[in-house]
Amino acid sequence: MSNNPLLTWCFLSFILALTLFFFFIQRKKTKFYLPPGKMGWPFIGETIGFLKPYSATTMGEFMENHIARYGTIYKSNLFGEPAIVSADAEFNKFILQNDGKLFEVSYPRSIGGILGKWSMLVLVGDMHRDMRNISLNFMSHVRLKTHFLKDMENHTLLVLSSWKNNCTFSVQSEAKKFTFNLMAKQIMSLDPWNLETEELKKEYVSFMKGVVSAPLNLPGTAYRKALKSRNSILKFIERKMEERMKRMQEGKKGLEENDLLNWVLKHSNLSTEQILDLILSLLFAGHETSSVAISLAIYFLPGCPQAMQQLREEHREIARCKKKAGVVELTWDDYKKMEFTHCVVNETLRLGNIVRFLHRKAIKDVWYKGYDIPCGWKVLPVISAVHLNPSNFDQPQHFNPWRWQCNSKNGNCGNTNSSNFMSFGGGPRLCAGSELAKLEMAVFIHHIILNYNWELVDVVDQPIAYPFVEFPKGLQIRVQTLAQAQAQAQSVI
Ligand code: HEM
Repeated sequence: MSNNPLLTWCFLSFILALTLFFFFIQRKKTKFYLPPGKMGWPFIGETIGFLKPYSATTMGEFMENHIARYGTIYKSNLFGEPAIVSADAEFNKFILQNDGKLFEVSYPRSIGGILGKWSMLVLVGDMHRDMRNISLNFMSHVRLKTHFLKDMENHTLLVLSSWKNNCTFSVQSEAKKFTFNLMAKQIMSLDPWNLETEELKKEYVSFMKGVVSAPLNLPGTAYRKALKSRNSILKFIERKMEERMKRMQEGKKGLEENDLLNWVLKHSNLSTEQILDLILSLLFAGHETSSVAISLAIYFLPGCPQAMQQLREEHREIARCKKKAGVVELTWDDYKKMEFTHCVVNETLRLGNIVRFLHRKAIKDVWYKGYDIPCGWKVLPVISAVHLNPSNFDQPQHFNPWRWQCNSKNGNCGNTNSSNFMSFGGGPRLCAGSELAKLEMAVFIHHIILNYNWELVDVVDQPIAYPFVEFPKGLQIRVQTLAQAQAQAQSVI
């Protein structure tokens, strides 16, 4: 030790400051009892591994390894923030049911940039409630039965009419055509054969690429192109709004009386900017997800001939009854009779996992199952990991629609507990279009199963989670019209 008192004093002060510094750091660290896990690299944490593409019918290597190592609730650093990841069915329900109380929606800022600050995906509180009510009203049961069902059938038949015997095409694009045309009609009364509808569809393709890309606003990036497409789409919608308002002022009634645009202009207090974001995001949410769902059903079914057979029998029976009654169009009662189809729809969504995880953050310190979830931390309920866990669903990799056929009153069959099924999310933000999506799938299945046999042209073209699910080659199939398929089967016999 030095004889200089000043130097000694400085040295001791330095040691004291260092001790206090480490004491506080340590206190801060041990204040919370966090789930196990590691935070990865500075800033990017484990984001790259978490987002690495993998087969959509699996949990992906990252999730599998992390669950094996840390259990179904673990900590990490994702999207530039400390995060708690949950593959636990109970915790996921808890998170979603406590939306607005303990947790809040927290999508990356880039999503708000592209879908708009008034998009329902990023809104919270009263504004979210108002926008949600408008959407629920637009997709209510009454409207599904009356406006949507008829249009859905027409649009399905329009798409199928181009499927000639033995032709090969991408189901993903055909399904997109169907869901886009339907939403464009219901939202803005756009007809599929109009040039402007085609233009809008093209902009949406580029827009979608940006939604799923890295948010780099640099020349040439998918994100920059998507922001450009966003502007073009908004200009298009605004033009439609102005035309509509002009017609309303002139007291002219059009064929558009029943579409969403008309409804918001007449009955809501939304500003122009809010209407634009609402329409842009409903058109986006309403066609991207359900077209993937239809493609997945077409992908899974040929792998399960027994399901294909039972499905065909169900729809043939419905068609027979309709013929007997002299009714051509599908009715709501027909839809209600599609019991096995509902099982196929659920199983497709469970195994395909279109939306794999949701973005939330804790808005209070939360204590759950012995762990602390600190206020401000990101919380990611991973739905796919629950759907693909053998303790929630027997042989989860197996496409088995019968697992949804329940005899007991509580909805449980085997270890299939329907409350673990969360393809549409849950709680106050449960998908506003869930019933619409299921109806679309059922109507499309009805017509394809009655009229075609199909085979997958490229068995390697599997659904991939990027994490948004897509078939890299568009899911090419070859169809045979059923009359032709039957004639061929007989000639073989
Ligand atoms: C199979 C197809 C679909 C799947 C798997 C799906 C899935 C989901 C999920 C998981 C959420 C919750 C997001 C969250 O909590 O952060 C959601 C929300 C939403 N979905 Fe869907 N969806 C589908 C089809 C549709 C359709 C056809 C529409 C029609 C426009 C739609 C409109 C919406 C809207 C507006 C929300 C926001 C609800 C809110 O924040 O209150 N979805 N969807």
